[in-house]
Amino acid sequence: MRRSTIARLVGLSAVLGGAAFVVAYFVPWLPESGSREGGRIDDLYWLASIISLAIFVIVAAALVYAVVRFRARPGDDEDGQPIHGHTKLELVWTAIPAGLVTAIAVFSAVVLVKNEDARAGHGVIEVRAAQFAWSFTYPELGVTTGELRVRLGEQVELKLEADDVIHSFWVPEWRVKQDLVPGTTQRLLVTPTRTGTFALICTELCGLGHAVMRAHAIVLEPAEFDAWAAEQRAAVAAGGAELGSQVFANAGCGGCHALAAAGSAGAVGPDLDAALAGADPDAVRSSIVDPDATVADGYQAGVMPGNYGEQLSGEELDALVEYLVAATQG
Ligand code: CUA
Repeated sequence: MRRSTIARLVGLSAVLGGAAFVVAYFVPWLPESGSREGGRIDDLYWLASIISLAIFVIVAAALVYAVVRFRARPGDDEDGQPIHGHTKLELVWTAIPAGLVTAIAVFSAVVLVKNEDARAGHGVIEVRAAQFAWSFTYPELGVTTGELRVRLGEQVELKLEADDVIHSFWVPEWRVKQDLVPGTTQRLLVTPTRTGTFALICTELCGLGHAVMRAHAIVLEPAEFDAWAAEQRAAVAAGGAELGSQVFANAGCGGCHALAAAGSAGAVGPDLDAALAGADPDAVRSSIVDPDATVADGYQAGVMPGNYGEQLSGEELDALVEYLVAATQG
């Protein structure tokens, strides 16, 4: 190649590379990472992106140059020159991609091994997915909640199970993602590095309510987490209506139902003060575990998840019934 050709190719590459880099780097494609595992995944993502960018720039520059330089001039009806291959060039364009792919594979393997390395003494939280709700059980506390609470900087193991169809657990800031397959227990390790409330999303098309199958992952400072855990323990120890009040809050009942005693104003489902007034404990229990058996006037069947009977322990369910009866008939 002539020197001027090479200079033009290099110039074009610089322009294309600059433009591609600006698009890749300065557009916030992903939220800032919020976990140690996510940081490693970002590194891998950048390695693959930079390699892809470099290849794109070289190929696009050669293409643009060839289109301009070798275009057919008016009146030029000649055939192009026959080309019979170029062994050296072919060796180079085979060896370089092979090396790059190997580099990505090795880096990926290292990230995978590190991200799946469970350190001793990590916490465990059981995650259940069902059409169309998430629930989180803390075996050490004996409570189940509708929002995921974790402690900043502590590695936690999520044990994921699905009740019905395949769902998928994803917190974009944590990067890690895992399908929940009925009949199996999947596991995911995450070490939160940023406090805050993040969206927890189901990313597997799992039915009509897939789009609303969302919860929150709340990362708390260690002291805040301990205070919350102590509150949960106290309610479990107290039992009865006090535990019931906790269950009402944890299961997210107030998100859909208004209840004066809980100060909730949800309007998706019936106002419980009116709907449960005069109901006996068995009727209250039935409307929790089998919500479609009797549907209040003006509301639709199939909106309230039908799996609270499985999600809540017998003790939690008894306590919730006791609480609701006391709260609506007091
Ligand atoms: Cu569960 Cu989509």
